[in-house]
Amino acid sequence: MGERNINFDEIIDRKGTDCIKYDFAVQRGRPADILPLWVADMDFKTSSYIEDALVERSRHGIFGYSESGERYFNALASWMRRRHGFEVREEWLIKTPGVVFALAMAVKAYTEIGDAVLIQQPVYYPFSEVINSNGRRVVSNDLILGEDDRYHIDFDDFQRKIVENDVKLFILCNPHNPSGRVFSREELTRLGDICLEHGVIVVSDEIHHDFVFKGEHTVFASIKDEYRDISITCTSPSKTFNLAGVLISNIFIPDKELRKKFRHEVDGAGISQLSPFGITAACAAYENGEQWFEQVLNYIEGNISFVKEYTQKYLEGVKVIESEGTYLVWLDFRGTGLSAYELERRITYKAKLWLDSGAIFGKAGEGFQRINVAAPRAIIEECMERIKKHVLQVEEILL
Ligand SMILES: Cc1ncc(COP(=O)(O)O)c(C=O)c1O
Repeated sequence: MGERNINFDEIIDRKGTDCIKYDFAVQRGRPADILPLWVADMDFKTSSYIEDALVERSRHGIFGYSESGERYFNALASWMRRRHGFEVREEWLIKTPGVVFALAMAVKAYTEIGDAVLIQQPVYYPFSEVINSNGRRVVSNDLILGEDDRYHIDFDDFQRKIVENDVKLFILCNPHNPSGRVFSREELTRLGDICLEHGVIVVSDEIHHDFVFKGEHTVFASIKDEYRDISITCTSPSKTFNLAGVLISNIFIPDKELRKKFRHEVDGAGISQLSPFGITAACAAYENGEQWFEQVLNYIEGNISFVKEYTQKYLEGVKVIESEGTYLVWLDFRGTGLSAYELERRITYKAKLWLDSGAIFGKAGEGFQRINVAAPRAIIEECMERIKKHVLQVEEILL
C-alpha cells in the first residue's frame, strides 16, 4: 500500500497523550501556552509501517515477557550495513531501554567512584548527569567555535586532560548534540589514537547517526580493529523513527571483556526484558521505514535552511551554527548583547518559547539556545517570528 505518513506539514495535536513536550509545561515551571521546541523527539507521525505493525501487535491482546529474535537482528544488521557500512555480529548486541541508560551502565562498568570521565562540552546534558550521579567526575575537552561557525576539537587539550586526570573513559557524541558536528574520519582517528595510547575506553553515542546532511557518518568502531576492541557503540531507532517512547536501543560491544562488564551492570540494574512494542516497532522500522526516513530527512533539511535564512535576514546579533547533522539547531545569541537572565526571560515569558538553554550543556554553551526543528514548517516559522518580535525587538524599561 505504500507509506502514508509523509505529510510533514500536518500539525498533529500531541496534547493529552502523556507527552513530555506538550503536556507538562506547568509542572515544569513554564507558562501553560508555551510553544515547545526542546526535547529531542519529532512532532511527526512515525512511518505508517511502524504504526500498522504496532496496531496489529496490540490487537493480539497479550503483552507478556518478550525477547527479540532472528528477524529483529537481521533487520538491524542490514540497516547498519547498508546505511553505515558497519558489519555487526549478534553476540555483540545488548539491548537496553535507552541510550542514556546504557551510558550510565558504561560509566559504572568501566570506571570507579571518583574517576574522571571525559566529554566534549557543550554536549547533551545527561552525559554529565550520568557521570555525576554515579559519583564520577566530569572533565570536559570543550569544543572550540571557529571563525567558520563550526566547532573544532582541541586535540592537545584532549590528550592533556586524559593524562592530567588519569581518564579511563571517554563518552563521544557523534553526530554531536548540540553543535551539529559530524566528525570526520580523520578527526575520529586522531581521537581514537590518543585513546588507544592512553588505554581509554570509548563509549560512542551514535544515536543521531542517520541524520547527516553534510559529509557522512563514520562509525568509530569501524575505523580500525583496535578501536572496535576499546569501544562500545550506542544506537537506537528512537531518533531516526521518532520512537523514543517505546524504549529500545541497540548497544554493540565487540570485545568480550567489555561486554561482560557491561552485562554485569545491566543485570545488576535488574533489567532483563524488552517491551514487545519496542521489538515490533524497531523491527518494522529497520525493515520498512527507510522511505519514510528519507523523506523526513529531506523535510528537516528544509527546516534547517529556513532557520538559517530567517536568522540571517531578520535576527541581528544571532548566528546559526553550521549544522552537519542531527535535527537540533544551535543558535548563538551572544551578539545580541542580552544578559543570560534577560535572554531566558524574553524567550520563556515574552516569546513563550520552550527551547533548551545553552547553559545546561555546560559552561561552553552559555549564550546559546538549542532548537529542535523536527516539526511542521509552520511551527518553526512561528518560533522564528516570536524570536524576532519578542526577544530581539522588545523595547521596555526594565525595573
Ligand atoms: C546524544 C544523545 N544521546 C541519547 C539521547 C537519548 O537517548 P534515549 O532516549 O535512548 O535514552 C539523546 C536524546 O536527545 C541524545 O541526543
